[in-house]
Amino acid sequence: MVAARCGAELASREASLDALLVERGAELAYVVGREVEWLYGPGRARLVVHRGMLDSRRDAGAIHPLVRALVPAGERPLTRVLDATLGLAQDAIHLADVLGVRIVGVEVSPALASLAEAGLARELTRGLEAAGRIEVVCGDAAEVLAALPGASVDVVYVDEMFARPRRSAPGFALLRRVAGHAPLGARFWEEAKRVAARRVVVKLPRDAVDPAAFAFDEVVIGQAMAYGIHHTGERSLAFAPAAKA
Ligand SMILES: C[S@@+](CC[C@H](N)C(=O)[O-])C[C@H]1O[C@@H](n2cnc3c(N)ncnc32)[C@H](O)[C@@H]1O
Repeated sequence: MVAARCGAELASREASLDALLVERGAELAYVVGREVEWLYGPGRARLVVHRGMLDSRRDAGAIHPLVRALVPAGERPLTRVLDATLGLAQDAIHLADVLGVRIVGVEVSPALASLAEAGLARELTRGLEAAGRIEVVCGDAAEVLAALPGASVDVVYVDEMFARPRRSAPGFALLRRVAGHAPLGARFWEEAKRVAARRVVVKLPRDAVDPAAFAFDEVVIGQAMAYGIHHTGERSLAFAPAAKA
C-alpha cells in the first residue's frame, strides 16, 4: 500500500539498506519494519514519527505559545482542529494531547503521510491516547479544505515548509527533500479562513515574523517560533466586552 501510494518500487530486504539502494540506483527507501516504519536517505538520515518532545511540551501546558495561539485563556475549549501541514505530526500530537481535541492532519507528501499513519498507530498501541485523535489525510490542503463546509473546524493550523530556516541536520535535509515546498497560495488562505470558525494560526520562525507583511490580527511570540493569528469569527463573541449601560 505504501509503495503504491508513493509510486515507489517494492523490494524485499535481504541485503543491507545501503546495498539495496546501490543495487536499485535509488537514494531513498521507505522501510516497513516489523514494528516501525521509517524513511531512509542519504548519509543514513532517517525520519520516523513518534511522540518526540511531547513530555517537555506537556510540562508547559496551557502556557505553551502554540496552545495560547490556538485557544487564548478564558475561551471555551476547542473540539476540532485542522492541521493543514501535518509533517511529522509533532505539533498535532502536542495539540491533541494537551487540548484533547480531534485533529484532521493533512499532508501532501505520500511518504510523510504514510510515516504519520504508521507512527500514530504505533504510539496509540503504546498508550498515547492523543495519537488516536489524529486522522491523517494524504492530499493537498487547499483541496481538502475546499471540500469542507464553512466554519466546520475551530482552528486551521499552518506550518509551511518554506518558512523553516535551513539546518544542516541530516534528518532535516531529508524532510526538506520529501516535503511539499510550493507556497500554499491565495486559494488555500481563502479556504482556510472560510473553514475555520475561530481562527487560522500560522507558525513562523520568530525572527521572520513581520505582522505587517502577513496582516495578522495578533501574534503570540515563543522562544524560537512565533504564531501569527487571523481571527475569523467567534473571538469577538468569546471576548465581547461587557455592554455599556
Ligand atoms: C514544516 S513541515 C510541518 C511540521 C509539523 N508542524 C510537525 O510538527 O511535524 C510542513 C509540512 O507541510 C507539508 N505540505 C506542504 N504543502 C502542503 C499542502 N499544499 N498540503 C498539505 N501539506 C503540505 C510538507 O510536505 C511538510 O511535511
